[in-house]
Amino acid sequence: MNYEPLFKAVALTAGLVLAGSAWAWNEGGGEQSEALHDVGNPEDGLDVFEVCSACHMPEGWGTEDGTFPQLAGQHAQVLIKQLADIRAKNRDNPTMYPFALPESIGDAQALADVVAYIEKLPMHPENGKGEWKKGTPEFEQGKNLFADNCVKCHGEIGLGMPEKFYPRINGQHYKYMLRQFEWIRDGRRRNANPDMVKQIQGFSDKDMKMVINYVSRIPVPKDNLAPSADWLNPDFD
Ligand code: HEC
Ligand code: HEC
Repeated sequence: MNYEPLFKAVALTAGLVLAGSAWAWNEGGGEQSEALHDVGNPEDGLDVFEVCSACHMPEGWGTEDGTFPQLAGQHAQVLIKQLADIRAKNRDNPTMYPFALPESIGDAQALADVVAYIEKLPMHPENGKGEWKKGTPEFEQGKNLFADNCVKCHGEIGLGMPEKFYPRINGQHYKYMLRQFEWIRDGRRRNANPDMVKQIQGFSDKDMKMVINYVSRIPVPKDNLAPSADWLNPDFD
């Protein structure tokens, strides 16, 4: 039996119910579930990724100043969710929006393909970090805030949980995370997880900086990293 129509009907109903309160953080269905079911082809993904590389860089490392996030190392499920949300205008990203549209890169299969390509990229060994080094009171305070408020979803070392669409946050650039965290706290990132919003409601700006400083300094497992910060993606020779 083909469960697809049933699945779509259920997803649609769930989406409508949640849409009553605002946009759903993860309404599922539609393009997201289609892309999640498609098997991605990394070779076709490279063609798509050429568009992305203009901003996210050929290595997928984004920029240390946080203008563009690092994509390398992020879970496939999370990348697909974010791409589908951006295309559905469930997450505002005016800079990227025109480049992410089906007219410029293709349908759900293109999302699966580009993500299959991104998955193979090693991460930046020197992500952008906050100002407080290990041993400073602010670092320690951030570490405590992380243990009390973040570990249950993002994990002990910030690896996230792909099956629940919880992003990996270790290795990400400080300034990008700070911006996202503030938007999530203040309700400006519409696809944010409502439980995270609740969890961080009471965070002051200083708390926010301290916890993100800590996250930006969590060591990334070595085998996820490129051999050096000078590594260049050979597919872009
Ligand atoms: C014109 C520049 C630009 C292009 C081209 C672009 N992006 Fe982006 N992308 C951005 C910016 C800026 C952000 C962060 C927006 C924000 O701060 O909310 C972003 C965010 C993302 C995110 C969310 C990351 C996260 O951690 O949640 C994903 C996934 C992403 N881009 C994938 C892609 C892919 C795949 C392509 C190519 C098809 C692409 N982008 C092309 C500028 C661009
Ligand atoms: C209830 C689970 C939960 C808790 C608790 C939580 N988060 Fe999140 N977080 C999420 C989810 C889910 C997302 C992605 C939301 C989406 O799909 O847009 C996210 C997104 C983020 C992002 C943006 C990542 C990106 O790539 O754009 C940052 C940074 C972040 N969380 C940091 C934290 C920190 C720091 C804490 C603790 C102070 C925390 N989160 C607590 C679930 C949680």
